[in-house]
Amino acid sequence: MKVIIRENAAEGGLWAARHIAARIREKAARTHKPFVLGLPTGSTPLATYAELVRMVRSGELSFRNVITFNMDEYVGLPEAHPESYHSFMHKNFFDHIDIPKENIHILNGNAADPEAECAAYEQAIAKAGGIDLFMGGIGEDGHIAFNEPFSPLSSRTRVVTLTQDTREVNSRFFGGDPDAVPARAMSVGVATVMDSREVMILAFGPKKARALASAIEGPLSHYNTVSAMQNHPAGIIVCDEAAIGEVKVNSYRYFKAVEAAEGDA
Ligand code: PGA
Repeated sequence: MKVIIRENAAEGGLWAARHIAARIREKAARTHKPFVLGLPTGSTPLATYAELVRMVRSGELSFRNVITFNMDEYVGLPEAHPESYHSFMHKNFFDHIDIPKENIHILNGNAADPEAECAAYEQAIAKAGGIDLFMGGIGEDGHIAFNEPFSPLSSRTRVVTLTQDTREVNSRFFGGDPDAVPARAMSVGVATVMDSREVMILAFGPKKARALASAIEGPLSHYNTVSAMQNHPAGIIVCDEAAIGEVKVNSYRYFKAVEAAEGDA
């Protein structure tokens, strides 16, 4: 995996936005097939979304031929609830770009048949030709999407039970009450993300430092599902100085040296 280290979250977010834009343009230059992009919610990608919106508004980038698949959605939360991931994505991104409505895919957390909904999501990804680039964040417990500790690294889209840890972390959006955070979610699996041609994980701030260090230097483990990045042939971690702070000094130096030698290759 490649590790891109920036001074702070704002710089890291800009790097990620430029990378996505470059990939969309590269594909458009060689084929008419749509670019398929996997997307997260959370605080982490906000700077990236803001920069992508700016690029679209200034005419530098278009999402007209982009298909998106979001990572996850709460189970049982009305779609119109301000904290649903449907609401988040429209408010922070989709309402401000030129993506056709029918190109947006977000799991329906209120589906009458959740299993069928999850299976259909996997099929829709396959029908779109697979995901070109999946952008994700990480949880303080090392989750990727809502693949909490002990999720099989071979997991697919399914209903998951959130850890108490995650409900506490996310309670900041639910009036500070962990019990107000839905107990379950639908999430793409670790393998769904890892099947993507490229995976870019963003991690900013000191609260992510331990999970990030163990994903990078620790064993491949269902206890820290982001560690699956170790086996991805085209995995990029974009982080800030605070989030990379728990890796060994020599690991840090190596990542910096690789970036200096290879740039954004
Ligand atoms: P955050 O969440 O971006 O709000 O920190 C990330 C995650 O839980 O995956």
